[in-house]
Parts: sequence; C-alpha cells; structure tokens
Amino acid sequence: MTLPPEQAEIRDLILASDGDDARITAAVAEIGTDRAAAVLVDELVSRADLTEITGLATTPVAFDIALEHDGRVVHRHVRAGGDAEHAPGPAADPAATVEGRLVDFVRAVFGPANALCDRAPRIRWHLLDDPTLSFSDTARLALTAGKRLLQGLSQQPVDLAELSLRTGSDKWGLHYYTPHYARHFEPLRDRPLTILELGIGGYANPAKGGGSLRIWKRLFRRAMIFGVDIYDKSPLREGRIHTVQGDQSDPDFLTSLAERIGPIDIVIDDGSHRCADVISAFHALYPHVVPGGLYVIEDLQTSYWPGYGGSAERLDDPATSMGFLKRLLDGLHHRECELPDGHVPDVAARTLVGAHFYHNLAFLEKADNAEPSLPSWIPRRPLSEAEMSAVAAQTATDEPA
Ligand SMILES: C[S@@+](CC[C@H](N)C(=O)[O-])C[C@H]1O[C@@H](n2cnc3c(N)ncnc32)[C@H](O)[C@@H]1O
Repeated sequence: MTLPPEQAEIRDLILASDGDDARITAAVAEIGTDRAAAVLVDELVSRADLTEITGLATTPVAFDIALEHDGRVVHRHVRAGGDAEHAPGPAADPAATVEGRLVDFVRAVFGPANALCDRAPRIRWHLLDDPTLSFSDTARLALTAGKRLLQGLSQQPVDLAELSLRTGSDKWGLHYYTPHYARHFEPLRDRPLTILELGIGGYANPAKGGGSLRIWKRLFRRAMIFGVDIYDKSPLREGRIHTVQGDQSDPDFLTSLAERIGPIDIVIDDGSHRCADVISAFHALYPHVVPGGLYVIEDLQTSYWPGYGGSAERLDDPATSMGFLKRLLDGLHHRECELPDGHVPDVAARTLVGAHFYHNLAFLEKADNAEPSLPSWIPRRPLSEAEMSAVAAQTATDEPA
C-alpha cells in the first residue's frame, strides 16, 4: 500500500500498537516523538467531538496532555472552545491534565481491545482542587469535555445510530442500515483495516459530508479510511480519513486507486447508485478485496427505478443492480451446475462465499468458494422408472438385517 506520508505514519503507529514497549518506541522514533504525540492527541480530540458541547464556545476550557517518553515529558494542549484545537506545549491554565506513558497512549488509542497498558492513562483534575470553582459552570463544562477526551481512550463499542445522527450521515433515520452494519462490522472493529467508501456526501459543497467516514473512523479505531466522491472533498481530510476525487463510473480510476491503497478489507458503495456504476465499480474493486473482506452496496431501491437504470419489471435483468446480484448468487453455487468442460468460473464465483440482503442493502462476503458439491453418483437429473427400481433394489440389499 502506498499511503500519503502523514497517513503512513499513523498506519505505522497503529501496526506497532499491539507490540511491546520496544516495538512501539521504535515506531515512535521513526516518526518523531512530537509527531507521535500530535497524532495521538488529534485522534483523541476527534473522538471526543468537543464541538458538540454547548457552552464551550463562550467558556473555552484548556487541557494539558502530558506524555512521558524517553526520560522527558512531551506536552500538548487542547483548547476546547467553539472549535477544538490542539498545539505543542503545556496549557497555561489547564482544567485537567491527561497523563501517562506515551507507549501506553499508543496502546490505548490504537491498540486492539484489551491491550494491556503498563500504566493506563489517567486524568488529574486541577479545577476540582479548588472548592470555589468545583461547582461553577466552567467546572461542569470541563468535566464533560474531560470525560469525553478520556472516553476516546476506551475501547468500548460505539452506538452506530447515535454516531450516524451526530455526524449527519443518512445511514440511520432516512435509511435504517446501522443495525446491519453493527452486526457485520462489530466483529472486525479491532483489526487494522483498509476501508473504502464510494460517496462521501454533501454533493457539490466541498466542506459538507463525510458523516459516514467519521462513523467508520470512530468504530474502527485502527483502520485507514478512504472516501471517493465525484466532487472535491479535500477539506474533510483528517487523521486517518483521506478523500479522493473521482468518478465511480470510471473503472480505470478505481483500479489505480485500489492498486495504490489496497488490498482493501471493506468496500461500501454509497455513491451514484446508478445500476451501471454499481456494477462496474464492483468489477473494478471486488478483485482488490481481501479474503475475509466485505463488499457492501447501499440504496438498492434504485435497482427498481428507471431513472437509475433500474426496472421494476425486468427483475432478473443483469444490467440492474439486483439482477446482477442475483446472478452472483448463482455463481456462489456454480459447483452445483453442470457447466461445459473447460469453463472457468469468474472471480466472483470463485470467491463469493456469503451474501446478506436487507431492505435496500447487501453485504457480500469474500473468501475461497471452494466447498465441493455432493458426490457425483448422487443423481442430478430425474431418474427413469428402471433407474428408480435399481436404486430401490440397491437400498434394500444395503439395509441392515
Ligand atoms: C448519499 S451521498 C453519500 C453519503 C455518505 N456516504 C454518508 O453516509 O454520510 C452520495 C455521494 O455520492 C457522490 N457521487 C454521486 N455520483 C458519484 C460518482 N459517479 N462517483 C463518485 N461519487 C459520486 C455525491 O457527490 C454524494 O456526495
């Protein structure tokens, strides 16, 4: 995988995070202690979503993040105000200090669930030391913001419907996809995945959209997230989220992107929803999905809508998304069909091992579709009277006395 340098650094930290202190220290040395601290605090701030806390805009609160490493303490300060910003150096008058060893922060932020920290990061409240301030509005806001920062160090599952509402995605409320995503994605959330979503959202407005990319970033704490949109969405890039401008109907573009960022663990097609684009994107990207990976297609209602190349009459037409997917199911069972000698099943037939359909949503599971058919002597075609009698006679002789 060739990643932009800033993302490659994050990826290296993630991959080191389930190692011992020496492995993490080596990864930190590679990118530099200050840069590692910046990556960790950036991730914490993005998970905390501090801009959501009303009151902080008029009463900003500062936090100190103090990371011990290599005989010194690296400080970054977070200013939780209208926008949440962080910068090098200690905070002037922090409400609290979040502190710990930098290697343990790497584990807590990017490590797999249950990664053992030598000393789990802690928060030390300064504001609560002063009884006159403890019950003030500032203290209330600081407690909320500080707890949110700490929450980013936890590896608890997240509520996808709530995240969808908070990030402005339509995956819950307009559609009802989040329970299905939870079911299929939760078991994977601890892996260092590569995820690609077609369709970032917000259409022509470069600063709008990105809701679902932020959902995946929060759910998959160890994943690199790529979004493709026909419009420029570069203002939405942050940390592990990278955006690429391109047209999903252009297979050459998708192939070269997949060659650059792949192999890919999960593809989500939430782009144009035009049947021809859904099918051509599948052909371009599915070969780049890893064994054990998932290919998800949203908004399959358009398969029945003529404006998107669909049809409610030609239900099996392979030019519609659902007609195409139904054919894939036949491919899954290709070993049960008598095919001409020399027939080579296509990549989907060789590797589709499961498909789950929900209202307007499909999850396709890729692995090795190698399960053999039943023994060849079991008749596939209807038997003649004589053949039936022969089988009956054989069964009678085989019957134990
Ligand atoms: C429904 S929105 C995506 C919503 C987003 N995935 C979410 O859940 O928050 C669809 C997006 O697909 C983009 N789009 C439309 N046609 C496209 C195409 N041919 N190639 C790439 N993106 C396209 C649109 O610009 C729009 O931003």
